[in-house]
Amino acid sequence: MEAINWSDLTFGYMKTDYNVRSHYQDGKWSDLEITDSEFLNLHIASTCLHYGQESFEGLKAFRGKDNKIRIFRMRENALRMQESSRGIMMAELPVELFEKAVVEAVKRNERFVPPCESGASLYIRPLLIGTSAQVGVKPATEYTFVLFVTPVGPYFKEGFKTTPVVIYREYDRAAPLGTGTIKVGGNYAASLVAGTKAHDGGYSAVLYLDAREKKYIDECGPANFFGIKNNTYVTPQSTSILPSITNKSLIQLAEDAGMRVERRAIPVEELATFEEAGMCGTAAVISPIQRVDDVAENKSYIFSADGKPGVICEKLYKQLRAIQYGDAEDKYGWVTIL
Ligand code: PLP
Ligand code: COI
Repeated sequence: MEAINWSDLTFGYMKTDYNVRSHYQDGKWSDLEITDSEFLNLHIASTCLHYGQESFEGLKAFRGKDNKIRIFRMRENALRMQESSRGIMMAELPVELFEKAVVEAVKRNERFVPPCESGASLYIRPLLIGTSAQVGVKPATEYTFVLFVTPVGPYFKEGFKTTPVVIYREYDRAAPLGTGTIKVGGNYAASLVAGTKAHDGGYSAVLYLDAREKKYIDECGPANFFGIKNNTYVTPQSTSILPSITNKSLIQLAEDAGMRVERRAIPVEELATFEEAGMCGTAAVISPIQRVDDVAENKSYIFSADGKPGVICEKLYKQLRAIQYGDAEDKYGWVTIL
């Protein structure tokens, strides 16, 4: 095997040894199947191909200084995948089977879990698709669950550094009562034009405003937004953003640190009042925001004049990482040790 340069990893795909699968047919999920193939054999009329019956998840495993491997909050991802299934009428994968698949895939690809000091991790990508043939717009009767893993570095090439994000008022990611709260591929397809334009313009993500009124802060690319002021952690309440497991964890850590937490609509002008701001997610971890450019309004909201992350972002980031890598006590039972 070629040596992997762990410290140079980006957020990309690398082939690993095995992936695991389960098929749903006649109302039952099959036992896990282990394979080294990176391919699927799909019917040309599969509902995932035509009508977007597809959902995915993202979680990570970390190798600690003690060399133990820790998986972060996998039950939450299992439950969210069930929620996604209910949202687009797919069969629900049992939580136990999801967890078994995660553990199996991580164990069988143990050599791809990056060493502790690299700061990299093993990204776990569960995927669920409708596979039976259908031409009318109807849910499939058969489904395939696939789970693969791949070692990754930081999602944003800057890692734990501040980056700029941008508001484009001419794009929406998800409708107010649409699919924004679940993790389905269509949401990401809908974000590609704006996201690519942002990257081309030197931004790391698009900060979406609510689709109905364009007044409130909504999703921040592949992550949730949060702002910090007066010892308060403020994050959007919205019917079109994904309930982020990282955000939920940071809310707990902020409360534990004696901060107030507010989940509410955040008017875009309120950006001017935050001392710090960031995006959070499995891939993004915490990515502190350097500034937000509201292009149409010709306004810039600056959170970090010198480009350095704020003290609270840094504190929360370190606390979260410490739990994930096993350097701090896992008070809430977030971690599964292999
Ligand atoms: N929002 C979107 C659109 C995402 O794709 C993700 C990533 O999963 C998140 C937020 C963050 O969610 P989590 O912290 O559960 O990874
Ligand atoms: C994650 O943070 O796990 C995501 O799914 C975000 C992105 C890679 C789609």
